[in-house]
Amino acid sequence: MTRSTARTIAVANQKGGVAKTTTVASLGAALSEMGRAVLLVDLDPQACLTFSLGLDPDALDLSVHDVLLGRIPAAMAVQSTDDGPDLLPSTIDLAGSEAMLLTRTGREFALRMALADLLGDYDDILLDCPPSLGVLTINALTAADDVLVPLQCETLSHRGVGQLLDTVHDVQRLTNRGLHVLGVLPTLYDSRINHAREVLADVSMRYALDVLDPPIAKSVRFAEAPAAGRSILRTAARSPGAEAYRVFARRLVALSATAAEPRVEPARMLTVPPAQAEMARPPVGQPS
Ligand SMILES: Nc1ncnc2c1ncn2[C@@H]1O[C@H](COP(=O)(O)OP(=O)(O)OP(=O)(O)O)[C@@H](O)[C@H]1O
Ligand SMILES: [Mg+2]
Repeated sequence: MTRSTARTIAVANQKGGVAKTTTVASLGAALSEMGRAVLLVDLDPQACLTFSLGLDPDALDLSVHDVLLGRIPAAMAVQSTDDGPDLLPSTIDLAGSEAMLLTRTGREFALRMALADLLGDYDDILLDCPPSLGVLTINALTAADDVLVPLQCETLSHRGVGQLLDTVHDVQRLTNRGLHVLGVLPTLYDSRINHAREVLADVSMRYALDVLDPPIAKSVRFAEAPAAGRSILRTAARSPGAEAYRVFARRLVALSATAAEPRVEPARMLTVPPAQAEMARPPVGQPS
């Protein structure tokens, strides 16, 4: 372990199927390979992350559902995985958490409070959000230092981004002033299609967002990994997709090492003036 307190990253986009879960599993495995202590949190009632790391959600007695409702400390539900990172798993019970949390005071802070005890045990905590902007995603954004937005580069991809950023701004205003937007990570990327570049440039300019590098290329290897209960870093260790997540993990760690402390300064916003954002952005599809 290299940090005294974990860096928590929420991987969020309310659009379905943009590789949130794949990014959490693959990035988590890549960080773990670097010798870092990593915890992954499955916040989706569909429990795809839990399943894809080799656990049977139906056979679990304890899950993030019990943790969010304050029934048990988070450490009690944490499981180790063959892939490397620890996992706070989900089960379908989590679908009921949303309704139960809605009646509670301080519902947005349930995850943040639950993870507070674990911050000293990990270097990185990655939160896999469900495809919605409901109370579970708000909990993730409230508990996080950073939010990472996987984006599939296709027509109309940008349409949900504004809504997601509105939610991020609300969270920054009301529950987590220190939340920082890392940027968009291009996923399912096909560099041969000019349109993918145009979509990225448009989203970046429209919302003054950084486009993170390297883009994660489309590959059938990703679809094969979950059935094996491992991430692509184990099932196709030398594939370009696995390598891309390794490069991204190294950049993320380097970025956090050089980031100005303290991270939780008031209202550190993503409102980079477009001109500045333009200059800061690496050329799409090329290593920075
Ligand atoms: N780079 C990639 N190339 C090809 N397929 C990919 C890639 N990344 C992810 N996939 C596949 O795309 C599908 C959706 O990915 P994933 O489940 O990670 O998305 P998600 O955003 O978590 O979805 P949901 O919103 O339903 O939670 C999966 O079948 C996954 O294996
Ligand atoms: Mg998912």
